[in-house]
Amino acid sequence: MISRTARFNTQIRIPNLKEKLTMNSPQRNASIVVGASSGIGKATALHLAQTGNRVVAIARNPEALAECARVAGTRFEPLALDITADDAQSNLQVFLRDHNYAVKNLVYAAGVVKPIQPLLRSETSDLERHFATHVTGFLTLLRACESFWHNPARVIVVNSDSATTARAGWGLYCTSKAALEMACRVLQLELRESGVALACVKPGPVSTSIVDAALSADPADFPDREVFVHAKETGTLADPDQIAEFFGQLLENVAWDEFASRDWDYRTDR
Ligand SMILES: NC(=O)c1ccc[n+]([C@@H]2O[C@H](COP(=O)([O-])OP(=O)(O)OC[C@H]3O[C@@H](n4cnc5c(N)ncnc54)[C@H](OP(=O)(O)O)[C@@H]3O)[C@@H](O)[C@H]2O)c1
Repeated sequence: MISRTARFNTQIRIPNLKEKLTMNSPQRNASIVVGASSGIGKATALHLAQTGNRVVAIARNPEALAECARVAGTRFEPLALDITADDAQSNLQVFLRDHNYAVKNLVYAAGVVKPIQPLLRSETSDLERHFATHVTGFLTLLRACESFWHNPARVIVVNSDSATTARAGWGLYCTSKAALEMACRVLQLELRESGVALACVKPGPVSTSIVDAALSADPADFPDREVFVHAKETGTLADPDQIAEFFGQLLENVAWDEFASRDWDYRTDR
């Protein structure tokens, strides 16, 4: 049986030196980018770091993140994390607390597109992975940030035309992106009062590994492959750096109320 004193002692923990320093120092603003190892997320993380922001760059591939950090310098802080892992929320919370960060901006650019095939040929585990990456992972991230928001804060969720346009062969992606869009609509209503503005931003087709996957898909499984072939051949694929710059404008130069008032599209709002 635990004595009264022993029970009492277990409830008091003396902060260590690092925690004491953290408790007494002002919070430092940070921008979190998830999906920062390639494509749109990588370009955004590098752009934000190069324009003077402290960036917490999250993805699973530590080597790719370390390579970006070598280019971007100390403002680019890599955090190798699988946003779908059970311990993702607690690991991110510990990281934010230990660094005394206040989350001013958050860009959610994690994404997967494979396998590209008819929906009924897909495994349940594939559907779960798509939902985990596009929806559950995003909610995990918001939960982790709950006690760390700067006021006001902004969240960009990178979404796709596929949230509202059905494409044969792209059912896993379309279904989970549609769910993400509705999650965003609900969260816009729920978070705004606490100073967190959330906007879905559609970049249109961008030259990244997701479009590469579309281009190399079997046309029998993915009839819309031609749409991407045409975009590539006519030079209408955007470059990730152009999208990054657009995101930078939305985070830095658009008034908070305007940012929060609607969804954005690179093709019409740039
Ligand atoms: N490219 C387009 O035309 C286009 C159009 C509309 C919307 N989008 C959206 O834009 C976003 C970025 O895609 P992209 O085109 O830039 O493709 P990408 O180059 O493949 O980037 C996807 C990123 O997500 C990360 N990621 C995937 N699963 C993750 C996980 N479980 N935990 C943490 N990070 C994870 C990947 O890094 P690791 O593999 O290192 O984890 C990678 O950094 C996606 O949401 C995509 O749906 C793209």
